[in-house]
Amino acid sequence: MNVIAQARCEHTSLEAGGIKVFTLRVEDTRNELLNELKPGRHVAIHYPDKTGIFQERLYSVTSKQETGIFEIAVKRSGRNRVSDNIHATLKEGSTVSLGYVSGDISVESVVGLERFAMVAGGIGVTLPIALLREIAIRARSGQHVPETTLLLCIPKVADIPFLHELLELDLTSSWFTLHVFVTQEDIQACARFKPGRPTSSSLRFIENPQAIVICGSHSFAKTFREHASSVFPSAKLLIESFTPPEMQEDQEHNGSDQLVRLCLTDSGEIIETGSGKSLLEILEASGVPVRSQCRAGICGNCRIRISGGEYRLESDFCLSEQDKRIGYALACCTFPLSGNISLDLKAAP
Ligand code: FES
Repeated sequence: MNVIAQARCEHTSLEAGGIKVFTLRVEDTRNELLNELKPGRHVAIHYPDKTGIFQERLYSVTSKQETGIFEIAVKRSGRNRVSDNIHATLKEGSTVSLGYVSGDISVESVVGLERFAMVAGGIGVTLPIALLREIAIRARSGQHVPETTLLLCIPKVADIPFLHELLELDLTSSWFTLHVFVTQEDIQACARFKPGRPTSSSLRFIENPQAIVICGSHSFAKTFREHASSVFPSAKLLIESFTPPEMQEDQEHNGSDQLVRLCLTDSGEIIETGSGKSLLEILEASGVPVRSQCRAGICGNCRIRISGGEYRLESDFCLSEQDKRIGYALACCTFPLSGNISLDLKAAP
């Protein structure tokens, strides 16, 4: 990763749901990265996983102050990933390396609207938190702000992150409404809390949103993109997901002993592998450089061209049907299954 700045950890605090909030200060306040850092966007952090291998991971900026101080919220995965090591080792006084800033969604994306909604699952709440804080600043200074609804889906009541902040905003502002869906615990339905998973009809009480921001895992984003586009076909959809798609269990089982040969057309290199992982993971593990950012089918950076063999394309949020018909695919959303597969890695935009 191209390291652009160093940031020092000033403070850490625990949130519900295995989330830790890190307050970071960019050491060089003249650094160009500071202009790019905005609440809602993502910053790439270069940090080792628990085995000591450095990786680059994106985290949402949940707030930023003029002085170069900003916050990120990191959820522990429990699978020895970078996030787990950040939880365990990033303490007050230690430093982290920062790379680029990415992401198109910030308060400017919604502040000119009359009405919009956000649908978030789990750690996907970080983007709504960032936007709500920015909207609240504008509302307090007397500016016009959009009517804003947040549907938050969380497994258990004890896991609801930022609950105090969200409830306070709901109860004290005229422009914000919170609805929490508790998906894995039997709770009594009341004004703001409902048991179960929201369906497309759960969206109908949102009044004609001009835009819907969807943030969560890849499968969550896929499900709510379908719900939102069927209930509000004219609403603009803004999607964020950091969780890579996963091979479906039945495909993984059926294909686990299949040999796959990947033929890289530009270098002639052949990679022999099994099925079960995405092309992006396979290529990275083989030391083949591939451009990537979101790892979730949103940014389009890992675009390749593919032909031959058998492979499965998971849903993505940027390629058109026409792109797919002529052989474009996203390495992060493509799972090779068997046979000889040719890859043109120079098909990136
Ligand atoms: S890395 Fe963003 S679409 Fe694959």
